[in-house]
Amino acid sequence: MVKYKFPDDFIWGVATSAYQIEGAYNKDGKGENIWDRFTSIPGNIYKNHNGNVACDHYHLYQSDINILKELGIKNYRFSISWARIFPDGYGKVNQKGIEYYRRLINALLDKGIQPAITLYHWDLPQELQDIGGWTNKKVVDYFVEYAELMFKEFGDLVPIWITHNEPWVVSILGHAWGVHAPGIKDYKIALKVAHNILLSHGKVVKLYRSMSLKGKIGITLNLSSIHSATDSEKDLLAAKIYDGFMNRWFLDAILKGSYPEDMKKLYNELNILPQFSDDDMKIINERIDFLGINYYTRSVVKYDENAYPLKVSMLDLDNPKTDMGWEIYPKGLYELLINLHKNYDGIDILITENGAAFNDIVNYKGKVVDDYRIDYLYRHLLEAYRAICDGVNLKGYYLWSFLDNFEWAEGYSKRFGIVFVDYNTQKRIIKDSAYWYSDVIKNNGITE
Ligand code: NOJ
Repeated sequence: MVKYKFPDDFIWGVATSAYQIEGAYNKDGKGENIWDRFTSIPGNIYKNHNGNVACDHYHLYQSDINILKELGIKNYRFSISWARIFPDGYGKVNQKGIEYYRRLINALLDKGIQPAITLYHWDLPQELQDIGGWTNKKVVDYFVEYAELMFKEFGDLVPIWITHNEPWVVSILGHAWGVHAPGIKDYKIALKVAHNILLSHGKVVKLYRSMSLKGKIGITLNLSSIHSATDSEKDLLAAKIYDGFMNRWFLDAILKGSYPEDMKKLYNELNILPQFSDDDMKIINERIDFLGINYYTRSVVKYDENAYPLKVSMLDLDNPKTDMGWEIYPKGLYELLINLHKNYDGIDILITENGAAFNDIVNYKGKVVDDYRIDYLYRHLLEAYRAICDGVNLKGYYLWSFLDNFEWAEGYSKRFGIVFVDYNTQKRIIKDSAYWYSDVIKNNGITE
């Protein structure tokens, strides 16, 4: 018996990204990107892993798509590697790159699977980093050129487009904390990068509209439900600041056309506020068709005099966690969805990522019995269901991830897939969670 039935047109999918699964890092004319470079520097990544081969999906895409079909997964979110299309980031086009994505898209459509494309999932062409990366306004224009070509080539085949994936992670992890490519540690640069990324997003949305394409376009933000450690005034303010830093800075710019006043003031005092014009804000505020959100965990924060620059630090609670060390907190998804619905005019939302890393093992029968992942997914889907019942315009859910893959700074040590990848043989093993999710899709809902 299906106990929790989702709306009839609910989108059920899985997600991946190019650098994390494709491999073939120097094949068929692809240019170098910042993750090729960053992973080549010893010490940056767990055991110096890299995405040179990854899941070799570049060569194995057809058999991977057969797995999607077998599981009844009808929606697939993936990203395009910018440097496969423009090896130098702009100018000369690499036809072989375009042909690859055309083959991939057609193979999906042949099996009745709807593609959703992310244009930027962190793999900036290295040549563009060499001219300053996202701090350089020229890169904004090159991103628009790249998007235009993709819309011309695939705009009529692809119903869902995502401009950027997680601009907070790109700016903060890549440019303030230095743990992601390009490995810069400077908050001022990070906020400039965030602004230019948002600007490039707005420009690309505007371009998409001008091309009269029939699909939908939006952006994906990583959002967290923020909790304060105590009810003290200082901790409550810390929570508000952290919410401003992670969530509102991006949400307000995109959906309200202005950065939050409290954060502008704070960043100004810290001398890290980027320069921007009213025109920029108008562009960033270009109407989107949906907001993509990636939800993994909540953040519990407290005031901390010594934490630069926000005076906020995160608590590490002794609650159940995934292999990433992230607290399992399904209710945060509900809280987040309700807040978005209330504060941003009932916008249409797609959960573009949700999922969990666990230390899976293949048992003596050759199976991966990942009931802990099923439990994580089940509990998050229940919260998504609850939000829909309470009026949230939640239109779809893409599980992260289809395959185990290269988890950035963590290399291959973290497995998020519902399909296990043996990196020595490239053999795929369908985990129990994939069969479970397949049933959810078949039933359009959850049974008890
Ligand atoms: C968000 C990112 O978009 C994705 O690339 C990453 O693997 C997952 N979160 C898990 O950390």
